[in-house]
Amino acid sequence: MSDDREALKRAAAEAAAQLVQDGMAVGLGTGSTVRHLLPAIAARELHAVRYVATSPATAEQAVGLGMAIEPFDALRRLDLAIDGADQLAPDGWLIKGGGGAQVREKVVAVAADRFVVIADATKVVDALAGPVPVELLAFGLSATLAQLGSVQLRADAGPSPDGNVIADRLGPVGDPAALAAQLDALPGVVGHGLFDGALVTEAFVGRPDGVEHRVLR
Ligand code: A5P
Repeated sequence: MSDDREALKRAAAEAAAQLVQDGMAVGLGTGSTVRHLLPAIAARELHAVRYVATSPATAEQAVGLGMAIEPFDALRRLDLAIDGADQLAPDGWLIKGGGGAQVREKVVAVAADRFVVIADATKVVDALAGPVPVELLAFGLSATLAQLGSVQLRADAGPSPDGNVIADRLGPVGDPAALAAQLDALPGVVGHGLFDGALVTEAFVGRPDGVEHRVLR
């Protein structure tokens, strides 16, 4: 990963970190862009912020920075969630899950009043393109794989923190809403990395000439 690209991720993350305020309940995403977010939040020395993490890796980094992570069972709503993305389309639709955390990430995003995407400019696309990460129940896996069609198991990924199988559905995306509905209809699919644009309130995109703040709704 080039230093330039890391700098763009960091700039986007640092801009989004300014949204966290004392007393908020905040969801923390997963991935290399979020790794820049956590120190930027920690440096602000905020008070009474309650955090939930979308992955063990994020929880571990946050705890190391002195941020207390709560299990996501006591909090009913979050004020804010901030997360990275693999692809960001003009209408706000996303592909997420490069790190395999898409199901917890979506649970957190849906629970948040404000869901903010942080990304470097390479993530901005005209239209979403596969693969789409999926999380699958181990029970009936062969049958689910057959229903999915062209799909590749992640050779490098163990089970998800919820004990499921991480894979990528190959092939074109076409209409993301139609594909999302198709995937949602398969009972062996626990979740997938297509995020509805209606979920995303705004995005911070790191570009060589500065951070673009894109307000989507
Ligand atoms: C984690 O499963 C993903 O959804 C990440 O948020 C996404 O892949 C972006 O990751 P990077 O910030 O590492 O590009």
